[in-house]
Amino acid sequence: MVAAEPARRVFVTGATGLVGSRLCRELVSSGREVVALSRRSMPPVNSPSGVRWVRGDVTSPGDWSAELAGAEAVIHLAGEPIAGGRWTRSRRERLAASRVEGARCIAAACAASERPPRVLASASACGYYGPAGERRLDENSPAGEDFLARLCINWEAAARAAESSGVRVVALRFGVVLSRRGGALARILPAFRLGLGGPIGPGERFFPWIHEDDAVRLVCWSLDWDECETAPHGPLNLVAPTAVRMREFAQELGRVLRRPAWLPLPLPLLHLALGQAAEALVPGQRVAPRHALAAGFCFRFESLRPALEALFPH
Ligand SMILES: NC(=O)c1ccc[n+]([C@@H]2O[C@H](COP(=O)([O-])OP(=O)(O)OC[C@H]3O[C@@H](n4cnc5c(N)ncnc54)[C@H](OP(=O)(O)O)[C@@H]3O)[C@@H](O)[C@H]2O)c1
Repeated sequence: MVAAEPARRVFVTGATGLVGSRLCRELVSSGREVVALSRRSMPPVNSPSGVRWVRGDVTSPGDWSAELAGAEAVIHLAGEPIAGGRWTRSRRERLAASRVEGARCIAAACAASERPPRVLASASACGYYGPAGERRLDENSPAGEDFLARLCINWEAAARAAESSGVRVVALRFGVVLSRRGGALARILPAFRLGLGGPIGPGERFFPWIHEDDAVRLVCWSLDWDECETAPHGPLNLVAPTAVRMREFAQELGRVLRRPAWLPLPLPLLHLALGQAAEALVPGQRVAPRHALAAGFCFRFESLRPALEALFPH
């Protein structure tokens, strides 16, 4: 009798989050064994079968690190919500620590493991590039200088340390992930549904977006390579190929919801409510997914209207 091949194991942090919850489903349905790390005492009620939950905090070493041994991949998504409130000093520390310390602990666990994972896909954000006006950005563009950019630089550097353990490291530079279940779109939806929506901040700013299906497909795609020179490594922009400005985004969302969407939410008002955190809602980056396109990734949603229509079918 031939022994069955062991399931390929993927270890996911931030698995209860917007991207992580969807990703875990996708990984399970592709035949992987998923080990999900969460600080919560109870697994989420709608957790797909096939996910094994481990309780722990990625920002401090713990028993969870033993789960990395022999894993095919680690996906690090955990992080304090960026636009979850004002960036007070203690909040800035939590924003950074939850991401950078988490990546550092994973890299340390890889170094301590006799069988480190093949690949580490670690979240980052298009915020890496900072506000960039009309400039076209791809993975080779330089980093910005604001708080989010510096956070992303440190986050990516901490993950990259795993390379010294022979791990292929991918920095997942997410644009705004469009989903009805959470994130930026779910936050602005009530106002749009009331007909009170419009461009958030300056309408001419670029809004890097990606449909949640493509975001999850791209993360999975970044894992699915025989380890060879062409396998994705380093930064990977997770954005749709068609860039839009905030004004166009608001118009399209209004059109798909069949609501007027002409009421702008001025940046000073946002600053009043959220302080510097307002900048996370109005990214202002014209980002292209150059590496994904060059390697032949096929987006399901290249342009905005079909993406929104799929999210809000009539
Ligand atoms: N969604 C987007 O549009 C977007 C855009 C750019 C970048 N990103 C980045 O991509 C990653 C995934 O995004 P997401 O939207 O899925 O995030 P999310 O929904 O906010 O979930 C992140 C998860 O991280 C864990 N977490 C939260 N605070 C933490 C802390 N202080 N210490 C340790 N763990 C903490 C939580 O899991 P437990 O409570 O179960 O521990 C949470 O479910 C994040 O790092 C985010 O910054 C997302």
